[in-house]
Amino acid sequence: MYSNEAKKFGRTIEIREDWEEVKVEIMRAIVAKKFSQNSILAKRLVETGEKLLIEGNYWHDVFWGVDLKTGEGENHLGKILMELRERYKNEGLPKEEKTYCIKMYGPINDITITDEDITQLEIECIVNATNKTLLSGSGVDGAIYREAGPELLSECKTLQGCNTGEAKITRGYQLKANYIIHTVSPVYGKDDNFLLECCYKNCLELAKEKKIHSIAFPAISTGKCCFPKEKAMEIAIRTVTEWKNKNSDYKISVVFSCIDKRIYQYACEWLEKVKEKSF
Ligand code: AR6
Repeated sequence: MYSNEAKKFGRTIEIREDWEEVKVEIMRAIVAKKFSQNSILAKRLVETGEKLLIEGNYWHDVFWGVDLKTGEGENHLGKILMELRERYKNEGLPKEEKTYCIKMYGPINDITITDEDITQLEIECIVNATNKTLLSGSGVDGAIYREAGPELLSECKTLQGCNTGEAKITRGYQLKANYIIHTVSPVYGKDDNFLLECCYKNCLELAKEKKIHSIAFPAISTGKCCFPKEKAMEIAIRTVTEWKNKNSDYKISVVFSCIDKRIYQYACEWLEKVKEKSF
């Protein structure tokens, strides 16, 4: 469940009677869980050193944070964070947990990284990393064909292929996504690296043309096409960020579906740089 959905859902459920007594303990457990599932965040917490951590707010939350207008507040969330920071300093960073929870990082500049399978995403459009024939292959291409069903192949047969770095659109058929944008992955060492940028740009251009406002990309060319993973994610995040900045009048949420653990990590690190504005 995405966080905004979880928040909405939270408002509809009845709250247990002893909530006031247990809520700090529950928050402590949730925050610890969050850091044990995301080693980048845990490291960043420790890097705050001895700084006083305050959940400053302007909506008068004087329980979890401190009202920045009045300076009043118990700052329970800040206290939990500082407690955890002490624990990580003394005992070392938490071991990243093996979990079945879907990992998510972001959004930063309306870009989110997830490790969820692209075929399972509830989103308007997903991107397929495919070959010039557009007639199905292995990897993410195979997974998308399996989940979308046989009608996808029939439509792809009418498209008469596609050049490397370019993009064509079909319906999503049995997928939750309404559309699939197919782009042809460049092969590392054979095709020009610039074509990887073209894949991302052309998909976004086509999405804009079709008035699509949410799109998910796989890590194009990082499988069969052998692109070095870190470099590929740098190109991916940089190209999407630049395109979004140039097209700031067009709102589009971008998700990167990175099922490979290392690729997920690299994508988060590059996205972090977008926040630091070091691109
Ligand atoms: N969801 C998200 N990502 C996935 C999924 C999935 N279900 N399955 C695999 N990946 P690849 P390429 C990741 O080889 O390198 C095909 O045969 C995978 O971990 O699918 O662009 C086409 O027909 C990897 O990081 O695509 C082309 O001929 C990434 O998707 C060629 O391979 C890309 O791996 C395209 O090669």
